[in-house]
Amino acid sequence: MGANQLLAELERVGRTRGGGYTRLAWDDATMTLREWFAGQAAALGLELTEDGNGNQTAWWGCGSDALLVGSHLDSVPEGGPLDGPLGVASALAAVARLKASGWTPSRPLGVVNFSDEEGGRFGVACLGSRLATGAITPDAALALRDASGTSLGEVMRARGRDPRAAGRSDWLGSVSQYVELHVEQGRWLAPHGTAVGVASAIWPHGRYRFEFCGEGNHAGATAMADRHDPMLAYAATVLAARELATSSGQRATLGRVLVEPGSTNSIPSKVVAWLDARADAEPALEALVNGIVRRAKAAAEFDGTQVNFRAESTTGAVEFDHALRHRLAALLDAPALPTGAGHDAGILAAKLPTAMLFVRNPTGISHAPEETSTPEDIEAGVDALTAVIRDLG
Ligand code: GLV
Ligand code: MN
Ligand code: MN
Ligand code: MN
Repeated sequence: MGANQLLAELERVGRTRGGGYTRLAWDDATMTLREWFAGQAAALGLELTEDGNGNQTAWWGCGSDALLVGSHLDSVPEGGPLDGPLGVASALAAVARLKASGWTPSRPLGVVNFSDEEGGRFGVACLGSRLATGAITPDAALALRDASGTSLGEVMRARGRDPRAAGRSDWLGSVSQYVELHVEQGRWLAPHGTAVGVASAIWPHGRYRFEFCGEGNHAGATAMADRHDPMLAYAATVLAARELATSSGQRATLGRVLVEPGSTNSIPSKVVAWLDARADAEPALEALVNGIVRRAKAAAEFDGTQVNFRAESTTGAVEFDHALRHRLAALLDAPALPTGAGHDAGILAAKLPTAMLFVRNPTGISHAPEETSTPEDIEAGVDALTAVIRDLG
């Protein structure tokens, strides 16, 4: 089956009223997608494995020195149809084409569906690949809690997985290259008139939690001068993030906020907000985050409120493997572009040569329902990935 057809099969899974997709780790939608992936593996005659972290791999051959291709099937809340599924569908379509052509790989080939790439449920991105590579300990990962207070360990157990099996994965030792195809996030390929690009690097990035604490009180009976409203330091932090990221040419976003008690006629007692910050170099990221924290503290002090801050997860700068990415760029005659988005390929890059292919996104929009590509470009992506597998496999 072609990638466009495979993606069409997923059209209804996790679809929301807003027209996007909410497919969070271990929810009903991602369980359906796991079954779908297993069905595709079986239809292609591939052998399915699942490691203790929920990462599924469909194998064509077994043994060492394997080539891994794939991506993830989960999404951010209200995300688009392609961030993740395009890479998985393209890998399955490439295998189908290669099998139909009579080609066989000279080394094992795995198609992977990484678990929880987006971190939309437990707050840490790339949990499946971080666990598999030891970038996070099982104890730290299993203790993470979702919005309802349920831990990852409890969720995995409820889905019939044994949390004691979480941790470094056996397959890692037998894989020697990973290539992830992904929809472009941003709009670089469109003006360059090319359907496929090769990633050069991933910007360092992190997720940080601010807790602004003040004094809950009555909205009508409390004079403005008598308030300790934590919303004000939060608002100052949002503005500082924009100002400091803009002036330094970096990126800062506060995309999630919780207000307690969350009542129109009450001054809040607490505001919890999450910062996503990304920069073109690690010192720049550090300077950006430190600058935002300084401004948050100064604002809180002014209002007689407090602010607590901690990093929840960080990922250093990733340079994709020089030899591999130049080989793919020459093979495909494709341009190189860096990305501000995080990927499992960035986590695996610490352990083995990895590379990424990006498929043109005409609007550049991602992590939103409008994320798109054309059927022709999706086919061009499969052409490229098929050529890469033939070349490396
Ligand atoms: C995931 O896609 C991220 O870059 O946050
Ligand atoms: Mn994403
Ligand atoms: Mn992705
Ligand atoms: Mn990502």
